[in-house]
Amino acid sequence: MNGLPADDASGKDRRSTVDVEAASLRSVVESDLPLLRAHRNKESTRRWLEHQSLITEAQQNVWYQGGGAVALRIIEYQGKPIGLARIDSSGANEVLVGLDVFEQYRGMGLGCSLFRLVCSEAAKLGSPLALWVFAENLPAVSIYRKSGFVEDPNFPVRYLPRIAPEGDPDALHPYVKMVFQE
Ligand SMILES: CC(C)(COP(=O)(O)OP(=O)(O)OC[C@H]1O[C@@H](n2cnc3c(N)ncnc32)[C@H](O)[C@@H]1OP(=O)(O)O)[C@@H](O)C(=O)NCCC(=O)NCCS
Repeated sequence: MNGLPADDASGKDRRSTVDVEAASLRSVVESDLPLLRAHRNKESTRRWLEHQSLITEAQQNVWYQGGGAVALRIIEYQGKPIGLARIDSSGANEVLVGLDVFEQYRGMGLGCSLFRLVCSEAAKLGSPLALWVFAENLPAVSIYRKSGFVEDPNFPVRYLPRIAPEGDPDALHPYVKMVFQE
């Protein structure tokens, strides 16, 4: 099995040498909080979130003490955190899923396999899988479509502000609900 590139990989060859079958999910623990906050506060992460403001350590502590991390899992490979999964069963009839790959591991082709891992774990909860995504998030939408998710015809598209350096700062952007269709 090959290893991950160094954290400071130049990006010359970003295709994966990761055996994603060896990746696993684990619960978030308190010592993950600085890593999670750093990831959450990166612009490349925030621009695709529904709530995009920067979070402080104090805000994160309140979130953690209130059980916010229950809906998250750390994705690990060879003992290293490489991403974050959302598996949120707090809604009545569905499990909301999502995938974040940490910045240094993006663009390596890991997305589909890691998302498969997330969905197989989420499916154990026994409810239909759903997610929300900005339609302009092409890497994410591609992964979700390839994994069997389709736009939910029963849910109207929402239009939300988002950090979009490439466009009008006041524009609203389509935010779409997708559901897993076998
Ligand atoms: C979205 C995300 C999970 C994709 O993970 P990834 O491991 O980088 O994705 P992959 O390398 O497997 O690539 C997936 C697809 O996106 C394309 N892609 C990857 N990086 C890209 C980039 N910078 N620009 C355009 N397309 C890109 C790939 O070519 C691939 O396309 P294909 O399916 O047509 O082959 C990751 O970019 C991420 O964590 N982003 C920030 C958080 C986020 O947006 N999460 C989703 C919220 S709903």
